[in-house]
Amino acid sequence: MADHWIENHKRDSWRRQAKSSGYRARSAFKLLQIQDKFKLVREGDVVLDVGCHPGGWSQVAVELVGEEGVVIGVDLEPCQPVDGAILLVGDITEPSTQDRILSELDNRIINTIVSDISPDITGNWDIDQAVAMTLVADVLDFSLDLLCKGGSFTTKIFQGVGIEELIAAVKPYFSEVKRFSPMASRNSSSEVYLVCRNHMPWVNRDVSIRETYESLLDKKLNPDDELEEPKVFTSFKVRRRK
Ligand SMILES: C[S@@+](CC[C@H](N)C(=O)[O-])C[C@H]1O[C@@H](n2cnc3c(N)ncnc32)[C@H](O)[C@@H]1O
Repeated sequence: MADHWIENHKRDSWRRQAKSSGYRARSAFKLLQIQDKFKLVREGDVVLDVGCHPGGWSQVAVELVGEEGVVIGVDLEPCQPVDGAILLVGDITEPSTQDRILSELDNRIINTIVSDISPDITGNWDIDQAVAMTLVADVLDFSLDLLCKGGSFTTKIFQGVGIEELIAAVKPYFSEVKRFSPMASRNSSSEVYLVCRNHMPWVNRDVSIRETYESLLDKKLNPDDELEEPKVFTSFKVRRRK
């Protein structure tokens, strides 16, 4: 009970700070703390903010990129305008939304992708967590091709099954992949941010990140499926791992 009270108190304190600093959501402090540690966004950058409603991260991104930068946000929910940001309404996984992002980019390449995306909660933790992880994989599959060499991709993920597999699926494309828990989200025990830096666009992506992630997860959850059909040597049957 006491822990609960402390958590709520901390959450309220970030909310009050957000209000007094002019940010729409306490989540703004999470991006500020991620930025403080990893220096992801620079002046003049092109930033894609995925799952941007109500606009806290977009407000922070606009401050960081300055007048020369570009911030494009996208969310299922419409946001109140943020000065200096282009905010689109739509599902990031839908081709029509992706086309609108491409058209706003107008052939510019993205320097930094930040994603605070969280799908609707059903209340069943395992389902919610699984849906959230595949959503992250889908966002990566769409946006990685738009990310510049050396660019960064940061996303919220939820603790649980599949984190190691998602990290393994994304690791080949970045020279550094780290987990980070900003102070502003430490009271929300399940969320953590995956910060992927220094994109290496020359690494071939024949198989989508979602497929790689799902097949790694499948192998973890069903290790016996990995066994090949028995091979016959002499008179013995030998089962080998692939
Ligand atoms: C925690 S909120 C983001 C808060 C935001 N970073 C801020 O600072 O104001 C997560 C958002 O993800 C959005 N979302 C979930 N699924 C989405 C999808 N498929 N496409 C776009 N946005 C999505 C939700 O509508 C929700 O507004």
